[in-house]
Amino acid sequence: MTYDVEKIREEFPALSIEDRGRRRIYLDNPAGTQVPRIVVERMTHCLIEANANVGGYFASSANVDAVMADAHSAAADLLNAPSSDDVIFGQNMTTMTLHLSRSIGRELSAGDEIILTRMDHDANVTPWMLLAEDLGLIIKWLPFNLQTFEFDLSALDDILSEKTRLVCVGGASNLTGTLHDVKAICARAKSAGAWTFVDGVQSVPHVSTDVQDIDCDFLACSAYKFFGPHQGILYGRREVMESLTPYKVRPAPDSMPGAYETGTQSHEGAAGAAGAIDYFAWIGETMAQDYYARNSHLSGRAQAVHAAMDCLFDYEAGLATHLIKGLQQMPGLRIQGISDLRAIDRRVPTISFTVDGDSPDRIARALGSENIFTWNGHNYALEAARELGILESGGVVRVGPVHYNTLAEIDELLNALDKILARRDAA
Ligand SMILES: Cc1ncc(COP(=O)(O)O)c(C=O)c1O
Repeated sequence: MTYDVEKIREEFPALSIEDRGRRRIYLDNPAGTQVPRIVVERMTHCLIEANANVGGYFASSANVDAVMADAHSAAADLLNAPSSDDVIFGQNMTTMTLHLSRSIGRELSAGDEIILTRMDHDANVTPWMLLAEDLGLIIKWLPFNLQTFEFDLSALDDILSEKTRLVCVGGASNLTGTLHDVKAICARAKSAGAWTFVDGVQSVPHVSTDVQDIDCDFLACSAYKFFGPHQGILYGRREVMESLTPYKVRPAPDSMPGAYETGTQSHEGAAGAAGAIDYFAWIGETMAQDYYARNSHLSGRAQAVHAAMDCLFDYEAGLATHLIKGLQQMPGLRIQGISDLRAIDRRVPTISFTVDGDSPDRIARALGSENIFTWNGHNYALEAARELGILESGGVVRVGPVHYNTLAEIDELLNALDKILARRDAA
């Protein structure tokens, strides 16, 4: 069977909700996605059958041990981590990054250099700026090209040096939607002897992610962006994690993953995250058989999940193409990201725009009153918004379709937008 969006939509109870007689159109997905039924079921199961702390000699504790073991194994499959012990859970990407930065900081000293980018979400910027402030590190900035919305890797070569200890880069921008060549960036960083921290929050929901292929040292993501609950996930290269000093309390385990999983985990969150990954596997098994061959280096759930991600990427590229073509018809509208359709595979379907003389707040508000959900503002991509010259003018309107959205929904958005912009022109 090939991709069947109607079958997909049946899995998501939230997609059929109506408000004031109008169906919801969820295009706010880069800020958080809806969840399929399996996620709710796994979380409910965890809260009813496995509601205990880990490691006890009784049934509910044994159940939660199994839930957590499966969650680690599912997360390892999603990211193709070498082992389920190489993946840790935590509250969210921001908290996990702030936490890990303390351990990384113990290995750095004044004068060491770190590289941050002008495109990244602030969660992959400020934790490192704070560390730099604490330790006297030197920050070097990787700029992006304001016309192509991509990094120029020769600019990276210019700022990498034997003093570079860490390169922090996003997999995909939550503002422009650019999909960065993290593999090339990590290779360059590695040959300079630096560690790499990849913010996968906006790439993992859209592309097959293989930490072994990317060859990064750390990669963080968030399950609520990929159809799971609010749950952070972080991969760390084993030898690096073991060389760091975990910031933990004394009775906590000394080994991975427990050494970095501070306090009692959200077991139900981990259960739900595993549910989302099993949902991808279901897509792989039932709709993405054509994508198995290119993932023949994987097996079992990992192969099904990665086949699904490749299939979803192609479907989403169709949505992005349709959306870009429609937006390009609107006078005064500027897409703040890649809009050349020949480069559609270098972006995720998160599409931000500005309209000359209009405010993103007014547009998002007007769309909201049509029950079309979008975001406006800088979306925490402070550096990118500043570079694009839109920080002071209210940022962008961000439209972020995912694999459960349809071409018909994109048309509804475009029609509504047409009317909203025409109303402004008539006023
Ligand atoms: C690219 C990117 N990185 C990091 C984050 C922060 O993730 P979390 O909410 O899990 O802390 C977000 C949230 O929108 C994001 O889009």
